[in-house]
Parts: sequence; C-alpha cells; structure tokens
Amino acid sequence: MYVKQCLLGLAVLALPWTSAAKSKGKGKGPDSDGKYWISGDGIKAAFIPYGASISNLLIKDQYGIQRDIVTGFDNASYYGIDTQHPHFGGVPGRYANRIKNSSFTIDDETYHVTPNDNPTKQSPKGADTLHGGPDGWDYRNFTVVAHTDSSITFSIVDPDGKEGFPGEVVSYVTYTLTGLDWDIKMVALATTKKTPIMLSSHTYWNLDGFSNNDTSSVFNHTFHMPYGGQRVGVDNILIPTGEILPNKKGSVNDFWSKPKQIGAQANDPELKNNCGFNCTGYDTCFTVNRGHLGAYDWRTEGPVATLSSDWSGIQLDVYSDQDAFQLYSCTQQDGSMALKKTQGLFDNPDFPRIIPRYGCVVLEVQDFIDGINHPEWMRDRKQIFGPGDDPRRGFVAGPRLCGCGTVRTRDRADPPWGFQKGAGALNSQLPRAPDIQRQRAERASGRSGRSGRHGPHQDETLASESDW
Ligand SMILES: *[C@@H]1O[C@H](CO)[C@@H](O)[C@H](O)[C@H]1NC(C)=O
Ligand SMILES: *[C@@H]1O[C@H](CO)[C@@H](O)[C@H](O)[C@H]1NC(C)=O
Ligand SMILES: *[C@@H]1O[C@H](CO)[C@@H](O)[C@H](O)[C@H]1NC(C)=O
Ligand SMILES: *[C@@H]1O[C@H](CO)[C@@H](O)[C@H](O)[C@H]1NC(C)=O
Ligand SMILES: *[C@@H]1O[C@H](CO)[C@@H](O)[C@H](O)[C@H]1NC(C)=O
Ligand SMILES: *[C@@H]1O[C@H](CO)[C@@H](O)[C@H](O)[C@H]1NC(C)=O
Repeated sequence: MYVKQCLLGLAVLALPWTSAAKSKGKGKGPDSDGKYWISGDGIKAAFIPYGASISNLLIKDQYGIQRDIVTGFDNASYYGIDTQHPHFGGVPGRYANRIKNSSFTIDDETYHVTPNDNPTKQSPKGADTLHGGPDGWDYRNFTVVAHTDSSITFSIVDPDGKEGFPGEVVSYVTYTLTGLDWDIKMVALATTKKTPIMLSSHTYWNLDGFSNNDTSSVFNHTFHMPYGGQRVGVDNILIPTGEILPNKKGSVNDFWSKPKQIGAQANDPELKNNCGFNCTGYDTCFTVNRGHLGAYDWRTEGPVATLSSDWSGIQLDVYSDQDAFQLYSCTQQDGSMALKKTQGLFDNPDFPRIIPRYGCVVLEVQDFIDGINHPEWMRDRKQIFGPGDDPRRGFVAGPRLCGCGTVRTRDRADPPWGFQKGAGALNSQLPRAPDIQRQRAERASGRSGRSGRHGPHQDETLASESDW
C-alpha cells in the first residue's frame, strides 16, 4: 500500500476534488458511527470530519484475514470527548510538530502562538507549541465537500489570528483509494498574510491489527528509510537545536543502510533519551536526502520509507515529495487507550484490548521540523506561504507544503519487484536496495520505459501533468 501525500500551498487550486468527481459512484454519507467509508480494490478505509482523520483501514493479511491496521476510535463522536488526544490519524495544522518558544519571525515581525506542550513553572501552558496549538486543525471538524465510493475531500478555513498564527489559511485534504494505494493530497492556501504552513498525516500503524499472538508491539516490524542518513538534532524536550546529525551505520538511528526491525536495538543504551529526556525509542525527524538523484519524480523514484510485518505479510511503502520524515514509536502510549472493536485479540489474557507502549508507529512525511526558527536551513520556501506566491514557483521549491504522498500496499504484480499477482495477498518482502540502485542506473542510461526524468522541462512537466 502506498500513502501518497500532497500538499499544495496556493496553487491554482489544482482542484483536488476533481479526481473524486471522476470516480465511480456517490458516497453514501456517514454510517451510524459517523464514519465515511471509501474503497479501493482489496482495501477499505473510514474517515471522520474531526481532524480529517482516518479511523479505520481494512486490508487482508497474507492468510486472507481482514486486519484494521490504523489506530482510532469506534465512533466519530468520541474523538472530541477523549481527553488524551493522541492525534489519531488526523491532519496536524496549520504547522505540524513543535515551534520553539511558541514564536517565530516573518519579515522582521515576531509572532507568538499559543503554547500547549512541555508545561513548566514559568510557562504553565507549555514551553512550546505542538501540532498547531491547543485548538489545532486536528481538534476541529472539517467540512466534507465531496464523497464518492473511492474518495473523500475535506476542507477547513483557519481564520486570521487563530492560535496566534497570522492570516487566513484555506485547506483541502483529499483521500483516494485506488487499487491498494491510499493517496493523500493536501492543498493549503495562505489567502491574506504570510504564514507558516506545514501539514502531515498523523496515522498510527500496527500492520498486524494488534492481532499478533506473539507480540502486541511493533518491535518485529521491519523498517527501511533508504534516504534517512541524517536527522534533526533536538534537545531534551524535542526542540530542534539547529544541528543536523549523522545516523552512523549500525547506530540505533540507522535505518538507511539496510532494513531493520524497529526493536532490533531496543536494549542499546544509545536508544535511551533518543526521543527526549527519559524516553527510550524514536520520536525523530529524519531528513530525506535525495538531492544526489538530480531531478526525479517522487511518485516513481521509490519509497522514502517501507514498513512491513512478516507476521501479517502486510507492507507499507510511503512515497512522498517531502524532505523530512518523522518516526514516532508510540513511546507515550501507556495502555490507557482501548483498541477498536475491529482490532486485537479477544479473551486472551496475555493481550488485553489496549494499545501498549511501542504498540504502533507514526510515520509523518513533512518538512524539517521547526524550520521557521532555523533560517540557516533555508526552508522558508517550503514552510512560509503568502497570498502573492506564484503557484508555479516550481515543483521542487514550490508551494507544496506537505507534498503528495502515497501509502502503497504493494500488489505482488507491481513491476519493479516482480511479484506474482495474488488474490488480495500482499507483498511481505522489502524492496531491496540493490533493486532500487539497478532501476536508477537503468533509468539513467535510458533503458527504462519511463522517460523525461532528466528532461529540461521536468518541473513544468510534473506541475502540469500532476495527477492530482
Ligand atoms: C463511541 O466509542 C467510545 C470509545 O470506543 C465508546 O466508549 C462509546 O460508548 C461509543 N459511543 C457510541 C454512541 O457508540
Ligand atoms: C464534530 O463532529 C462530531 C461527529 O462527527 C460531533 O459529535 C461533534 O459534536 C462535532 N464537534 C463540533 C465542535 O462541532
Ligand atoms: C520566548 O518568548 C517570550 C515571549 O513569549 C520572550 O519574552 C522570550 O524572550 C522568548 N525566549 C527566547 C529564549 O527566545
Ligand atoms: C497464535 O495464532 C496462530 C494462528 O491463528 C495459532 O495457530 C496459534 O496456535 C496461536 N498461538 C497461541 C499461543 O495462541
Ligand atoms: C522480535 O523482536 C524481538 C525484540 O527485538 C527479537 O528478540 C526477536 O528475535 C524478533 N522475532 C522475530 C521473529 O523476528
Ligand atoms: C522515566 O520513565 C519511567 C517510565 O517510562 C518512569 O517510571 C520514571 O519515573 C521516569 N523517570 C523520571 C526521572 O522522570
């Protein structure tokens, strides 16, 4: 399965809902739990207006048993009642992740946004702002503007001054299921003032649907991030320090040199405090280092990350146009959240119906976190948007905020990996780095069927032929 994520700030409203309009059938509206269902081929998902969140993703495992592989609640009304608010499946906005000291400066004007993270004596509400503030986008109900059998589009209007951010932002989020792919397209327009925008999908994954009777953790999920050679250095409350650190081969943060189980180094002392003070695990912003590829099409270049479980045989490939990738290993889950009725084991005392610590991972494609407070990283063109921006400023530097991404559940017939087509069966093998290298070499030498990758009009081609 592919999660495709796109976000276009200011654009010729590339009408994300046109694809919805094209697709078959009109959606039926919400079910009795307030969920809107859409289907692909072998995959089904439910969404809710609260945070434009995914609440269920159903897919068959290698034995043909249906699994629900994302966390959430049983009904839409509970999302606003739950007080823990783990950002289950929503769209954090208008600025994902942390903002240092809840402030930033644009054109010499300093803005203060509402803090909601790491409370201290001096700052009882928080030392920083996380995921857009205490009433960020994923605490609000979006509007459903289109719903078909295979696609749903949500919109939100975020007013000038809300949570302290300058200017109005209008956003559309479209989710589409095609075959086994989940495409995510996010468009956000700064309509009145320059403002930071960074969106992501905050989906929590357990590829066994919490039904693995050997383990309820994701320690045995295999993870690979072929471009993740570096990470953003953070202090003990996870605020970037400005340093970009190397993920040395063999270190706990090395997921680039080869695929590795999430829990492979669970007992390595280096993992302690790796996700902030007294936190063992991952809550880490990796950079996606693909500059060496030259011009490339993120849709075909290969996944920025792959997650798979041998137990279920389900594999997730994440394709994205974004330059960073946050991995969070559910270190803050403590068993107080219940599983959905569609997940888990029943009447098994070894596996109570809760989400345990390390029971899930969140994979967030986004830009360098807190880039608005690190001008030396030069992320402004990817993080600050205003009404005067040229929507065709370019695909690479351009107005896409959280880029297009696809979560792809790989079908065995998918060409680069050459699997046999199997009814509903999913690939349980990881793409091997040498295959990716080979494809790249083939393309570079013109042996591949795909063309135009190195053409001079690459950006233009992509922008105009963009499939969304
Ligand atoms: C909604 O889901 C929550 C959490 O699973 C549950 O406690 C509650 O009873 C449900 N409410 C309704 C109306 O189904
Ligand atoms: C958001 O929608 C849910 C149902 O989807 C509803 O229960 C809740 O009251 C709504 N919240 C607001 C603030 O409108
Ligand atoms: C943090 O922001 C406050 C105002 O909200 C300001 O007074 C203070 O100087 C800032 N601290 C740092 C370290 O920038
Ligand atoms: C675990 O599940 C498998 C497949 O459902 C079953 O064959 C096996 O007996 C189970 N093991 C335990 C210890 O329950
Ligand atoms: C599962 O993970 C644990 C902890 O990392 C490891 O000891 C064990 O060998 C793994 N099991 C499999 C089947 O890979
Ligand atoms: C560190 O975390 C553990 C559990 O994760 C907790 O029991 C302990 O009190 C924490 N220690 C400190 C100093 O916060």
